Amino acid sequence: MTDRVAVVTGGGAGIGAALASALVDAGNRVVVVDLDGDAAQAVADRLGERARALGGDVADDAVIAAAVDLAESTFGPLDVFVANAGTTAGMGLDSTDAAWSTALNVNVLAHVRAARLVVPRWLERGTPGYFLTTASAAGLLTQIGSATYSVSKHAAVGFAEWLSVTYGDRGVAVSCLCPMGVNTALLNSGFDSDREGASVAAAAVTSAGGDVLEPEDVARMTLDGMEAERFLILPHPQVLTMYSHKSADYDRWIAGMRRYRSTLERSAPDGNAPDRSTPDPAADTRQG
Ligand SMILES: NC(=O)c1ccc[n+]([C@@H]2O[C@H](COP(=O)([O-])OP(=O)(O)OC[C@H]3O[C@@H](n4cnc5c(N)ncnc54)[C@H](O)[C@@H]3O)[C@@H](O)[C@H]2O)c1
Repeated sequence: MTDRVAVVTGGGAGIGAALASALVDAGNRVVVVDLDGDAAQAVADRLGERARALGGDVADDAVIAAAVDLAESTFGPLDVFVANAGTTAGMGLDSTDAAWSTALNVNVLAHVRAARLVVPRWLERGTPGYFLTTASAAGLLTQIGSATYSVSKHAAVGFAEWLSVTYGDRGVAVSCLCPMGVNTALLNSGFDSDREGASVAAAAVTSAGGDVLEPEDVARMTLDGMEAERFLILPHPQVLTMYSHKSADYDRWIAGMRRYRSTLERSAPDGNAPDRSTPDPAADTRQG
């Protein structure tokens, strides 16, 4: 993918910053949007003339529109929208409506609002556009400890699927990035915070082994997946195995996940587990 104009949300850090960087390295031009405007600006400064920055909350229609306007007025018609910004707001059953609202707004409705703006433009122009969703392995499997993250990421996968089924024949490419652990602030401090249950989250991080990828590796794999126009981009290939075990025998998968959750709770008895904690409960079941 080269010579395209892209918007990357949540591009001020982590996977989004790495995606913006990989896109620019490949000869594209990028607008980096982030709640943290200074972080977005620092990334754009580092990337040089082929990048611009915008601060704002991508759950807000006006911010999405401003990002697309900035991209089009600076670089030309938008080709690629990367809906990457994400939040770990909320946790379990005690999550407030406000936390649910943040999770659903940032992790899925921001994608809906972006697609509502850019897809009709692509169809009208008659040129192909690319919508990349950063969901999570939690959107295919689950997120032990966090109902808000599990549900909002499942919804993000569902929306990306729907978009591809509905507009794929009309030249809109859609990919859905579903990583497990990636070495970013979201994983290292988002789940592993001082919120109730954080010690289980920390235990899950420790017990998940050497699976945590660097954002730059995830970005490289993502661009490769987009080059091939693959819908599901899985930087951790074992997610596909887990997902097939889940679909092959849902009850067995749930039983395995219950066992994994209680193992984590025994070692850290107060709560939740992080993104990298989606193990293969089917394999767990076979061992048990
Ligand atoms: N790190 C992981 O292990 C992991 C695994 C699977 C999926 N993900 C997903 O990857 C995406 C990127 O996360 P990351 O790990 O790079 O985290 P990160 O914390 O390093 O970066 C996320 C960036 O998004 C920005 N952001 C958050 N809410 C925003 C909003 N409403 N508007 C604009 N910007 C906002 C943050 O300021 C931050 O700069 C998220 O959707 C996350 O759920 C991460």
